Amino acid sequence: MSASLNRDQQHHWQSVHTANPEMYGWQPSAPAQHAAAVFRAAGAGSVLELGAGHGRDAMHFAREGFVVHAADFSTTGLDQLRTQATCEGRAEQVHTTAHDAREPLPFPEACLDGVFAHMLLCMALSTDEIHALTTEIARVLRPGGALVYTVRHTGDAHYGTGTAHGDDIYEHGGFAVHFFSRALVDDLADGWHLHEVQPFTEGELPRRLWRITQTVPR
Ligand SMILES: C[S@@+](CC[C@H](N)C(=O)[O-])C[C@H]1O[C@@H](n2cnc3c(N)ncnc32)[C@H](O)[C@@H]1O
Repeated sequence: MSASLNRDQQHHWQSVHTANPEMYGWQPSAPAQHAAAVFRAAGAGSVLELGAGHGRDAMHFAREGFVVHAADFSTTGLDQLRTQATCEGRAEQVHTTAHDAREPLPFPEACLDGVFAHMLLCMALSTDEIHALTTEIARVLRPGGALVYTVRHTGDAHYGTGTAHGDDIYEHGGFAVHFFSRALVDDLADGWHLHEVQPFTEGELPRRLWRITQTVPR
């Protein structure tokens, strides 16, 4: 993705999290509740959330007993998460990392049991950057570790509308989204076990998303 679009998106999200503190509230998203059950069934202890925002889902994972690493390129969102974790007495369980998803993950190989990303892979990342990110996720997960991620897809009402940036990325109201095709989901699962691609909707538009669950072969 062009460096300028990425820089604009980082400024945009930083402004959005600053102007709308705790914008998604503190109830977990439906995909995070599913992911917590997947991680628990796999005996997971430590999980990484990518694109954690202000941390509604990171807090859910902490309340469910996991050690959580929450990453986002908005430091404002992560500040709100740290404040909430401290208020709930869970600061020891929640670790935050300012991180751009286009960069290698700052973790050693096979050190995590689960990775969760709700509407991060469908941000303004190119197809190549998304492939590089899933390769990085496979590297940091232990064998058998699970990735649960959600993305808006080509059946969404905003697909093909607004400002086109190429590579199936369209921008509305300052928010750039990479709309996923089913072929891209399948390509990203190459070398993984793909367990499900579950359609769901969120919000008033409504956004049309897939929730994907896949694991690293043992
Ligand atoms: C749609 S919000 C979802 C936030 C959170 N997952 C939730 O559902 O509450 C997307 C988040 O991804 C972050 N983000 C977007 N592009 C990113 C990138 N390249 N690297 C890291 N974070 C990014 C934004 O700052 C924002 O917090």
